[in-house]
Amino acid sequence: MELIYVDHAATSPLHPDVLNEMLPYFQTHFGNPSSIHQIGRQARQALDKARRTIASVLNVHEQTLIFTSGGTEADNMAILGYALEHKSKGNHIITSKVEHHAVLHACQELEKRGFDVTYLPVDETGRVKLNDVQEALRDDTILVTLMFGNNEVGTIQPIEEVGQLLQEHQAVFHTDAVQACGMVELNLSQLPVDMLSVSAHKINGPKGVGLLYMKEGIKVKPVLFGGEQERKRRAGTENVAAVVGFAKAMELSNRSIMERTERYQKFAQTLIDVWSKKEVDFYVNGHQHERLPHVLNVSFPYVNIESLLMNLDMASICASSGSACTAGSIEPSHVLVAMFENESERVQSAIRFSFGFGNTNEQIERVALDTAEIVKRLRQQEEYIS
Ligand SMILES: Cc1ncc(COP(=O)(O)O)c(C=O)c1O
Repeated sequence: MELIYVDHAATSPLHPDVLNEMLPYFQTHFGNPSSIHQIGRQARQALDKARRTIASVLNVHEQTLIFTSGGTEADNMAILGYALEHKSKGNHIITSKVEHHAVLHACQELEKRGFDVTYLPVDETGRVKLNDVQEALRDDTILVTLMFGNNEVGTIQPIEEVGQLLQEHQAVFHTDAVQACGMVELNLSQLPVDMLSVSAHKINGPKGVGLLYMKEGIKVKPVLFGGEQERKRRAGTENVAAVVGFAKAMELSNRSIMERTERYQKFAQTLIDVWSKKEVDFYVNGHQHERLPHVLNVSFPYVNIESLLMNLDMASICASSGSACTAGSIEPSHVLVAMFENESERVQSAIRFSFGFGNTNEQIERVALDTAEIVKRLRQQEEYIS
């Protein structure tokens, strides 16, 4: 049976062109960019070229980009680094309840270090209200961090509007664009953000590499100490092969945003149409329009999600619950809890399908039909037991 991977928001396969671009940097061009001999210079040139490529995709100056080990490090560098460097200006940080744990746990760490953090609520679509941001702002707010697009439900936050709101305030604005990058055009010369995180493995690049964009003039306290790489902002020998692959992945994904958006919207519609036709009981979670097209989060009321995922896995379909599995039980997702406080059934029965490179119409049709069949069977079992 063909394996169908619909969990691209978790991670995505390496694009073959990305792999080809990377291969020489493991063997013949293996140099350390800090070495002054020719093998080192070759690596330096590759690193510089990759930085130029990514800077041109994001429409920013090369010097504003710091390569990191991924989205988690970029988020931590932005949040911990900015707050610790600027604590003399204030003690208050604003974020939302639906952020990735790379942001939430960094904020919790700041609380332990004496900072005050406001976790904004979201509505049923997973969106923060602009008014709530405005009301939460204080004279001592130094940082607002809100994700661009949510990894579990795909909802896009009002980034442009929040950025505009902060123009008159001392607080800087960070956004985690790990899921949005490659699905939404990120023109950073226009977008009113000061810092932005990206990760390569979500856009068919390699794992273990990402970046933090820091607008000119923004200073953060380094998290790592050692060499003088990345203009003394992030110590450690650069992961040249990964950065080269990252640049290729950025180029490829940026070129195909429109075409993939259309394709993924059709995939989502196929799932919805088939389930509706088969009279499956389901709700789509997340915002209807302000959403990342590759993520479709659905609740199948009264269906045990662990059983559904296991049955899908047996049918060679890899999807995700969007919730963390701890000690054999599925913890409710903090994102869905924030969206549907009082509707526990919708929270308990949610599953995430996320589309990407390699998915075909035929695959999605099979996902739709197999899911419908399994959901109906599990519902019947549930009714029989109760
Ligand atoms: C929204 C978001 N932020 C941050 C991360 C962390 O990125 P990385 O896996 O590169 O550390 C992820 C990964 O799942 C994510 O979806």
